[in-house]
Amino acid sequence: MQRCKGFAMKVLVIGSGGREHALAWALARSKRVTEVVCAPGNGGIAQVARLAPVVLSDLDSMVELALREQPAMVVVGPELPLALGLVDALTERGLRVFGPTQAAAMLETSKSFAKRFLQRHQIPTANYAVCTSAADVEKALELFHAPIVVKADGLAAGKGVVICQTRRAALEAAQGLFSGELLGADGERQVVVEEFLTGDEVSFLCLCDGKTALPLAAAQDHKRIGEGDTGPNTGGMGVYSTDSILDAEMRQWLVRHVAEPTLRGMAAEGAPFQGVLYIGLMMTPRGPQVLEFNARFGDPETQAILARLESDLADALDAAIDGRLAGITLRWKPGASVCVIASSGGYPGSYETGKPIHGLDEAARVEGVVVFHSGTSRRASELVTSGGRVLGVTATAGDLREALSRAYEAMSRIQFDGIYFRRDIAHRALGK
Ligand code: AMP
Ligand code: GLY
Repeated sequence: MQRCKGFAMKVLVIGSGGREHALAWALARSKRVTEVVCAPGNGGIAQVARLAPVVLSDLDSMVELALREQPAMVVVGPELPLALGLVDALTERGLRVFGPTQAAAMLETSKSFAKRFLQRHQIPTANYAVCTSAADVEKALELFHAPIVVKADGLAAGKGVVICQTRRAALEAAQGLFSGELLGADGERQVVVEEFLTGDEVSFLCLCDGKTALPLAAAQDHKRIGEGDTGPNTGGMGVYSTDSILDAEMRQWLVRHVAEPTLRGMAAEGAPFQGVLYIGLMMTPRGPQVLEFNARFGDPETQAILARLESDLADALDAAIDGRLAGITLRWKPGASVCVIASSGGYPGSYETGKPIHGLDEAARVEGVVVFHSGTSRRASELVTSGGRVLGVTATAGDLREALSRAYEAMSRIQFDGIYFRRDIAHRALGK
């Protein structure tokens, strides 16, 4: 590949999932990027990046690595390092980092902060109450009709939301969160009680530079483990992206009424937001409502979104760090992409790891397919499973039906003991 001298860039990606594999893959294709380092990475990321060991819960290990590597840009994938203040720590030491500060990441790390922020800035969201005790919850519940949603205040890896069919169940869920019985650790100090919303869920991600929100292609995730959207929530079992998820008018509306007021609000409150603002929406009969914010790229949304991106990702992230997003336009492959996740049998409950994975080369030979690894590691010459979500078969094509057919053809070529995947990703979209 021709490299532009003078623009040569080494990029450090923090994280170890399918999202980071997709980020490393897209950055490695950039004209300007000469080297991608991923920490800690996984067995698949090793094909596109040099891996370096860090512990994602240990701020010092990440700071030391970044200072040693001196990359031109650091891209932070997961929420935990953001919550620990990695962006602040690296920025103070003179590094260029894509991602929000600890204060700006509160849009994700505290649900009570996010809900009050949405209300303060008149951004549409479900009615809610923030409660600090079971007695508080009991009182608040008088204002809600079942079903009722009860949420942990802090980060819970998708496990902090309970949908309750009765007020009694809601009270029990809140008690479980306060006592630590539901999520472990010391229990929550605050719990959010929220009105239940119905409609289609959409993941609307924007690159942000503090002032400008630049939308990425919209995606729809499938959070439940079972086909037909049944069973417990997971980190996400599959995603599709097409332009028809949100038409141009709706995207514009969301930028004007959700993304921009969020950026203005955060800046006015002293925590300008730079990074990915992931807006989780419910498209309800009374219009779009914000379900949640994440302060990072989604997983597996990123795999499907970046598979469609034609523009140079490094240029866009660089512009976000410099506050130049207003001058950037992104080009997208028309048509569709999907990412179907293969997980270890038992996930999101307990599961076994260390199972040899076969058929990846055969899968990658299907036209338009790339396999992003989530939980894999290398053991001698073998690739083995090492997590709940193991890999995401990602396919692009001229239309959704063809993208699905390619993804499932590739999936049929992959084997590991206990493999599980949903066969109905994007089924509702196809039915429309
Ligand atoms: P959150 O972490 O807040 O996005 O919640 C996780 C998942 O729970 C969402 O993706 C929705 O599927 C569901 N959920 C959260 N809040 C609500 C709500 N108010 N009404 C219906 N479903 C919800
Ligand atoms: N796919 C949902 C998330 O990244 O939070």
